[in-house]
Amino acid sequence: MTPDFDQIIDRRGTLCNKWDDMGAVFGDVPDDALAMWVADMDFHAPAIVREALEQVVARGIYGYPGENLPYLDAIRWWMEHRHGWTVARGDILSVHGLVNGTALAVEAYTDPGDAVILMTPVYHAFARVVKASGRTVTELPLAVTDGRLELDWPSWDGLLTGRERMLILCSPHNPGGRVWSAEELRRIADFCRDRDLILVSDEIHHDLILPGSPRHTVTALAAPDAADRLVTLTAATKSFNIAGAHLGNAIITDAALREKYKARMMALGISPGLFGLPMVTAAYSPQGAEWIDRLTAYLAGNAALFDAGVNAIPGARSMPLQATYLAWVDFTGTGLSPEDLQARILGGAGIAANRGETFGLGGQGHARFNLATPRARVAEAVERLQRAFADLQ
Ligand SMILES: Cc1ncc(COP(=O)(O)O)c(C=O)c1O
Repeated sequence: MTPDFDQIIDRRGTLCNKWDDMGAVFGDVPDDALAMWVADMDFHAPAIVREALEQVVARGIYGYPGENLPYLDAIRWWMEHRHGWTVARGDILSVHGLVNGTALAVEAYTDPGDAVILMTPVYHAFARVVKASGRTVTELPLAVTDGRLELDWPSWDGLLTGRERMLILCSPHNPGGRVWSAEELRRIADFCRDRDLILVSDEIHHDLILPGSPRHTVTALAAPDAADRLVTLTAATKSFNIAGAHLGNAIITDAALREKYKARMMALGISPGLFGLPMVTAAYSPQGAEWIDRLTAYLAGNAALFDAGVNAIPGARSMPLQATYLAWVDFTGTGLSPEDLQARILGGAGIAANRGETFGLGGQGHARFNLATPRARVAEAVERLQRAFADLQ
């Protein structure tokens, strides 16, 4: 069945974090507010995913799931066919999503008081998890060169405290949608080797590469000699809009490293729930691949529309996305204070977007907009933003 990404679906009142929790998170929001913050999509998941889930539901018994070889083999098939990466069944550990997967890595390989490196601005939950577990964050700020995020090695000398034990990489990068090259990934892996850091590579956005962009390279392939310090995190949830399944993979090829991770999982009683397994198994298939190709083409159209509209606002610059559906807009050229900026986006335009500063250094004066919504809504958002900033014209 051809997906209809243009269909407007009212998600309010459906236990939906993005649409139902706007008021709780942003305070007073207009009744017609557009939810463009949480990173899930306003599209139906592929029909095959829904059918697989319906089969489970129809059984009427929802007991403990057993060892699920089709699930593991579907992951292996996907990694091989979409990412050129051969993975063994035994290397795949199932976690409750990748925030959970990151938290487990922090606990497994670092101690309270240790520091974890983040290349900022970056997905805000990384810092939240690190700090909540009593570790500290060392931020290495990314540079913006020619309108895209770049690793800024020279500026990082001297920022390390000596307490760093881990680096959490976001590949492709959220926000900004940067696809890191194999060469860049190798350099990050070398950096980790030289400083004896565990490298956690969160590749949750790896399927969302927009047409015409460079290919995503799996860190494990870019830096095979980093295997003894590398934890790769992947999931079908972001790609297929099934984040509510709360299921992800920690793929660890080094046996000693994997045993440590497993020990933390064991200590916390982590095992997958029933419903995500058939959803992911169905998604990681040729039909799922076709759906992703249609999705990324649609997302590219949304991004083009959004960028053209937002870049027409004096002082605003939307970073061209290579991956993800998360537009990263630099409003610093408007000269507005963070409060004024937020007042215009939320109060003026009626859009709930993520505030840039929550992503760490480099996020000030920025906002992140989720474009995985029907095109008509993106057009509406652009119009609203242009109106809210009209006095700057
Ligand atoms: C880089 C990154 N990692 C992890 C997550 C969330 O993962 P999960 O829903 O599997 O916990 C997100 C969600 O936006 C993300 O952008």
